[in-house]
Amino acid sequence: MHTTRTNAARILIVDDDPALGIVLEALLRQAGYLPRVVQSAEAAQAAIEQHAVDAILSDVKMPGMDGLDLLTVLGERRPDLPVVLITAHGTVPLAVEAMKRGAADFLLKPFDRDEILFVMRKVLAAGERAASAAPRLPPGGLVGESSAMKEVRALVERCARGQATIMIRGESGTGKEVVARAVHEASPRRDGPLVKIHCAALPETLLESELFGYERGAFTGAATTKPGRVELADGGTLFLDEIGDIPLPMQVKLLRLIQEKELERLGGRQTLRVDVRFVVATHRPLEQMMARGEFREDLFYRINVVPIWLPPLRERSGDVALLAQRFCATHGLRNGRPDAAVDDDAIALLAAQPWPGNVRQLENFVERLVVLSDDPHIGVADVEKELARQGVPAARPAQSSERLNLDERRRQTELSALQDALKESRNNRTVAARLLGVSRRTLYTKLEEHGLL
Ligand SMILES: Nc1ncnc2c1ncn2[C@@H]1O[C@H](COP(=O)(O)OP(=O)(O)OP(=O)(O)O)[C@@H](O)[C@H]1O
Ligand SMILES: [Mg+2]
Repeated sequence: MHTTRTNAARILIVDDDPALGIVLEALLRQAGYLPRVVQSAEAAQAAIEQHAVDAILSDVKMPGMDGLDLLTVLGERRPDLPVVLITAHGTVPLAVEAMKRGAADFLLKPFDRDEILFVMRKVLAAGERAASAAPRLPPGGLVGESSAMKEVRALVERCARGQATIMIRGESGTGKEVVARAVHEASPRRDGPLVKIHCAALPETLLESELFGYERGAFTGAATTKPGRVELADGGTLFLDEIGDIPLPMQVKLLRLIQEKELERLGGRQTLRVDVRFVVATHRPLEQMMARGEFREDLFYRINVVPIWLPPLRERSGDVALLAQRFCATHGLRNGRPDAAVDDDAIALLAAQPWPGNVRQLENFVERLVVLSDDPHIGVADVEKELARQGVPAARPAQSSERLNLDERRRQTELSALQDALKESRNNRTVAARLLGVSRRTLYTKLEEHGLL
C-alpha cells in the first residue's frame, strides 16, 4: 500500500545503460523523489524484496530478462506497483503490448525531463488513489453459482460478440473489473488489447491527455507525440473504470468519442478513427447524479446499452463457499501452501459475514487465513481468530429455523438498512435518519437495539 507523499515516492530505475541510469537518478532526485538504480530486471526483482518501492521506471531492451518480462513477473507478485517502461521511438506496437501486460505507462525515447516528471507524477497519483490491485480474470472465469452470477455469465456470453457498450454496476469489490475482462476474453477482440483507464484516479487535465494523447508541444512536458489510451485500444476493448467520476466537461468529450469513435489528440488537427469496444463501470448512483445535474443524460443513455448488475456479496452468500475455496487454492499455491483447505463449518461462518468490501474483502481475508495459519486445514477457530483480530464481531451462521423466522428476518433487514444508512451518510446521524425516513430519536433507539451505538 502506498503511504508516501508523491514527492517522497521511492522509484526504482532499471536500466542496463549505467549512463542513463545516472541521468535518470539525478533527475528524479532533484525533483524530490527517492530513486534507486539497478542494472537488470533480475536485480530489480531482488531490490523490491529488500526495499520499499512505490514505482518502477524500466528500460525495455536489456540483456537477460527484458522490461516486458519484468512486467509480467511483477503483475503476478506486485500488481499494485506501477511500472513505466522506456521504449525506443517508433515502437508503438511494443507500447501496446506493454499496456496489455499491465504497464502503468510508457515513455518514448528520446524524452525530456518534464515529460518524465509528468508521467511519474501521474502514475504515482493514480497508484495512490487506486490502491487496489488490478484483478486478473480468475483461471476458472467468474466464480459463483448463485442465480445472479449465472445471469451475469449468460449476459457476458451473449453480449461479448457485439459492439454494444456494456455498463457494469455494483458496489466496490463486487467484481466489476473481472467482468470487464471476461467480456474482452469472450469477445472476438480477445487477441487485441484490453486497455483500462481509471477515471477517478486522475485529475481532469491528465485524464484528457491520457485518453486522447497529445501532439508534441501541446503543453509543457509534451516533448514527444504520444498516442492516448483510446488509440492504444484500437482493435480491442477500452475499459473506462469509475466512469461516474468523470467531470462534466470531459463527459461531453467522451460522449462524442463513444458516439463517433473519432478523436483528435490534444494539440492535434487530424481526426483519428478508432475501432474500439467500450466497457464502463461505476459504483455510483448515476440516476441520482443525473437528477442532480452531475451526470449527463445523453452520456448515460449512450453507455447504458447493456447494463450488468453485480449484487453485493451479502445478497449472494451462497457464492461464498465456491469463492473461498477458489481463493484458498490460488493463494495456497502462491504462498507455498498447495494443500490449504477450508472446512465446511468455517465456510458456513464465512458465509454468515456481511462482507461490506464484498469479494475483494473475502479474498483478502482468505489470503490472510492461508498465510497465517500453521495448519493447512483451516477451521472455525482460525476464522474466529482472524475476525477478532480485525475487530469484527463474528456473525453466527443462521440455523434454518432461525433463517425462516419472520422476526429474525425483520431484525436482519433492519440491521443491514441501518448499516447501509450509516455508511452512506458517513456516520452523520441526522443524514442517516433522513435516508431511513425516521426521526433521529427512532434512529437512536434502533441503533441501541442493534448494538450500533
Ligand atoms: N466472481 C468472481 N470470481 C472470482 N474472483 C472474483 C469474482 N469477483 C471478484 N473477484 C475477485 O475479487 C477482487 C475484486 O474484484 P474487482 O476488482 O473486479 O472488483 P470491482 O467491482 O472492480 O471493485 P472496485 O469498485 O473496488 O474497483 C479481485 O481480486 C477479483 O479477482
Ligand atoms: Mg474496479
